[in-house]
Amino acid sequence: MDLATASIKISKVSKSKIDTLDFNDIPFGKSFTDHMFVAEYKNGTWSDMRIEPFANFSVHPANIAWHYGQALFEGMKATKHQDGSPMLFRPELHSRRLNASAERLAMPAFPEEQFLEAVTELVKLESAWIPPNEGSALYLRPYMVAMDEFIGVRISSTYKFVIFCCPVGPYYNKPLKLKADDNYIRAAIGGTGEAKAAGNYAGSLYPTKLANEEGFDQIMWLDAKENQYIQEVGTMNIFFVIGDTVVTPSTDGAILKGITRNSVIHILKDKNYKVEERQLSIHEVIAAADSGELLEIFGTGTAALVANVKGIGYKDKLIELDLEKYKVSPFLKDTLNGLRSGRIADTYGWNVKLS
Ligand code: COI
Repeated sequence: MDLATASIKISKVSKSKIDTLDFNDIPFGKSFTDHMFVAEYKNGTWSDMRIEPFANFSVHPANIAWHYGQALFEGMKATKHQDGSPMLFRPELHSRRLNASAERLAMPAFPEEQFLEAVTELVKLESAWIPPNEGSALYLRPYMVAMDEFIGVRISSTYKFVIFCCPVGPYYNKPLKLKADDNYIRAAIGGTGEAKAAGNYAGSLYPTKLANEEGFDQIMWLDAKENQYIQEVGTMNIFFVIGDTVVTPSTDGAILKGITRNSVIHILKDKNYKVEERQLSIHEVIAAADSGELLEIFGTGTAALVANVKGIGYKDKLIELDLEKYKVSPFLKDTLNGLRSGRIADTYGWNVKLS
């Protein structure tokens, strides 16, 4: 059946594949829903906005993004309120961050109004795929990719913007052991670290593989200049509870401005926790661990939500914490999950209900 909203043409599948999904066992990022949103950019404008059956694309071998990585993505979540309404979590912030990434990568902005219309229509159509269990969600993956068929290095003149959906459980299913890497870096000031550039993730793979071989789950990146100031972890921003204060690295141009990070800081301040966004060195963290003041380490991210860190290795030093004593991190996880299920009243106005 074909339908149309103001600007989106909708073509539906004849039969849903939702029966193939086990809602009690959803590995991250491997199940895809029936439909996706697609728009094309050419001659300086976005057009052909459509929701269509989820399917492969045909790509020219000289596709410029495949060679030079002019590609970006977002990650956002939809959940279901206890009353059954689908909800989006802070979608306008994702739209703005997507466009900030696009600017850094010389890609065209995707208008916020159309972004919100696209995620709204897609999630309404796929609402049966939103997992009911608290802590699970429908993960939306908006992305933009250069489409010129040309292998000279220059800004593409054509792009594809796509949003597809994956029902997901938690990204990490166990507490993490991190390596503070003193050899490789993720991002330098002036680089693309603040953007959700596909290439940022490609560059992290080899150092992460080496860290995995040493028994660590993820890398905690240090700054590029002095190799001591903490930036972020593989797929998350990072927080430390030191004494009565929650400390997180200030976003300095090389750190992703996490929307979960922003939400967590807001909740903590609202509940009268002391929060500091500032430079934080690995040496300060080690000193706090040695003096017994380091109480918790956790990461935040859209996919990860709030993930506990049980230890950090740096050179020959290993910090290990007692997860049983964690209080702030479980409180935040419970609050975010509660807000996203309607169990806790959304006094912040972060959920956008779709019906
Ligand atoms: C997200 O949290 O949405 C991310 O972008 C992490 C992703 C690389 C899995």
